[in-house]
Amino acid sequence: MKHLIEILITLLLTTFVIITYQSSAATALTVPKKMQRLNINRIAVVTGANKGIGYAIAVQLAQSGHFSNVILGCRDETRGQNAVRDMVNELKKYANGNDNVAEISFLQLTIGVKSSHESFRKSVQDQYQKVDVLVNNAGMAFKGSDPTPFAQQCKPTLDVNFRGTFDFTEELLPLVRKGNDPRIVNVASMAGRLGQIKSPELRNRFAASDLTKDELHKLVDQFESDVCDGTHKSKGWGGSNYGFSKLALIAMTRVWAREEMSHHVKVNCCCPGYCDTDMTSNGGPRTASDGAKNAMLPATIEDCPTGEYFADFKPARWV
Ligand SMILES: NC(=O)c1ccc[n+]([C@@H]2O[C@H](COP(=O)([O-])OP(=O)(O)OC[C@H]3O[C@@H](n4cnc5c(N)ncnc54)[C@H](OP(=O)(O)O)[C@@H]3O)[C@@H](O)[C@H]2O)c1
Repeated sequence: MKHLIEILITLLLTTFVIITYQSSAATALTVPKKMQRLNINRIAVVTGANKGIGYAIAVQLAQSGHFSNVILGCRDETRGQNAVRDMVNELKKYANGNDNVAEISFLQLTIGVKSSHESFRKSVQDQYQKVDVLVNNAGMAFKGSDPTPFAQQCKPTLDVNFRGTFDFTEELLPLVRKGNDPRIVNVASMAGRLGQIKSPELRNRFAASDLTKDELHKLVDQFESDVCDGTHKSKGWGGSNYGFSKLALIAMTRVWAREEMSHHVKVNCCCPGYCDTDMTSNGGPRTASDGAKNAMLPATIEDCPTGEYFADFKPARWV
């Protein structure tokens, strides 16, 4: 009898060991190797990162080896969470054998809504205390087929692409100034070329090396008011709300670059090129990933300049 009990106990123990081994083996097989985080603490924020060029910029930042965390700022919670899920899956394939992958997370962010800017800043401040690279990618453009009259398209376009981007950046600046090799990259456009403004006096004011934030805001307000009363062309402005919003963003980049020098923040802008995204109704010949490389340069290159405009993968002239 004693012998039988001993055999039973041995059987039970063996079964327990086998089950335990199998379940740990199963865990090892079913749960993918945790992506290892870089042994650095650098935080990147990308706005409008749930699709298009912003999504591609976030993927490339996460793979670059320069960041421990990439935060996607997206206005819609579901789209933001789906983007995190898709990006993490994409990065897992890449991470196979590669440890230099950043952690991806999402925070709600509507550019142009002050309370959203504030709660975004507060969350980042509480969790990370700083931002090393801010990529202002979120932007909008009315489609050519949109029936909204030109004058009514002006304010919504400026409110996101220029005023909202300005306000959000100012909100985050105290955190960016605490960054390690801190940078801001504004995704502008070749549509923001200076030459769209016909009046040489106006053009000179945007390009002036002593342009101030206040003066730039006044010029933007003047453009809007002239568009609204239909006098913009006779007063020497260009004929594109979107183009003007990006021109103002490029001018603002140069003002920030100058003013932030004492805080060692490098501020640059770029044109991604004409890309295959929703904004262009997939009409652009360049992939979003290739377009994103124009933002990656000022976000990651060594000895980064400041106040530059990058296009076609190199610094370019703003004309
Ligand atoms: N595609 C091109 O050929 C091209 C050329 C030159 C410059 N750009 C610039 O590149 C940037 C990205 O363009 P894309 O082609 O990738 O455009 P997209 O596919 O339309 O994506 C735009 C992104 O910005 C977000 N967004 C728009 N308004 C927002 C707001 N108020 N608050 C927060 N997020 C907002 C969108 O969010 P939802 O998904 O919620 O709408 C989306 O994530 C834009 O600044 C654009 O002007 C694009």
